[in-house]
Amino acid sequence: MSSASRAAPRAAQAAAPPARRPDRRRFADRIALVTALLVPTAVTVWGWQYYVAPLGARLRHDLHGLLRPSGTVGLALGIVALAGFLFLWLYPLRKGLRALAWMGTLGDWLRVHIVFGLSVPLYAAVHAGWRFDGLIGLGYLSMFIVALSGLVGRYLYTHIPRSQSGVELSREEVANQRRSLITDIAAATGRPPLELESVMRVAGGASEALGPLGALRRLLQDDFERRRAISRLRLELAQPRPGRAAIDGRSLGRALGLARQELALSQQVRMLDATRRVFALWHVAHRPFAITALLAVSIHVVVAVLFAGIGAK
Ligand code: HEM
Repeated sequence: MSSASRAAPRAAQAAAPPARRPDRRRFADRIALVTALLVPTAVTVWGWQYYVAPLGARLRHDLHGLLRPSGTVGLALGIVALAGFLFLWLYPLRKGLRALAWMGTLGDWLRVHIVFGLSVPLYAAVHAGWRFDGLIGLGYLSMFIVALSGLVGRYLYTHIPRSQSGVELSREEVANQRRSLITDIAAATGRPPLELESVMRVAGGASEALGPLGALRRLLQDDFERRRAISRLRLELAQPRPGRAAIDGRSLGRALGLARQELALSQQVRMLDATRRVFALWHVAHRPFAITALLAVSIHVVVAVLFAGIGAK
């Protein structure tokens, strides 16, 4: 084994945190989301016969006392939905107010925002007995659109280079990070940086003239290109070279993780201005739906508490 490849695992271990932490965080987020969705999903399955029954038949159904919006289970889910919905607004608050920096990094707050944003509509739907009439139906539609558009927002957000805390990186910081990633990949694989750069090169054109749809299309193409480049690199690195032992699976996995980050950064920086333009447009579209949902939820809660009498039938 050459000294470069012997040094590789140590060098790669030093570089491991940036490669591994995002995976760990993604896993934790998925677990949190599945856990959050478990209760409303279980209630929907349990009360299926009730939810699909016509309105008149629901009133006579055994589960009506529990599952109607003001019933024990329905109301509990409504309170969770309301608390979660209000909690969602802490993200823009944390983002706008520096004084709240002690509450955690923006990146972590956005992760929580996303888990809540994806689960609150389900809690609200089960609370409403899967019926969406009148004003609250309009509010629910807005909430649903915000949550769906959140998926696009998250996609754009992750295509802007950021530190782990969620703060945008400058071009210089990106260039430094890319240099250090290439050095780490070279150390992990024992291959010269120039050779790695040529295997990892991805196609891509200028982004200045791209409109919003063109930019989105290019971002998707870039994701696809990156996957192809990583497959090429995997094949290239897995091939034993004359006089050089084949790279072991662990180092290969690390090198590919680092390469994925390097490629993503190079594509993101090329598309940065176009991505920022689309993201700014996305904010303009996301905000009014979020505010409509907030108004509708507020009116609904006030009406429910003051006039409907939440303990009544
Ligand atoms: C009921 C659901 C949701 C509501 C009410 C809501 C509300 C908001 C609000 C008010 C903002 C700030 C907008 C601004 O600064 O202009 C925001 C930002 C954001 N939300 Fe949501 N959201 C919801 C669901 C989601 C979901 C499901 C996702 C992702 C899957 C998501 C991802 C984002 C992202 C990426 C941002 C922008 C972050 C940034 O620019 O710093 N949201 N959301």
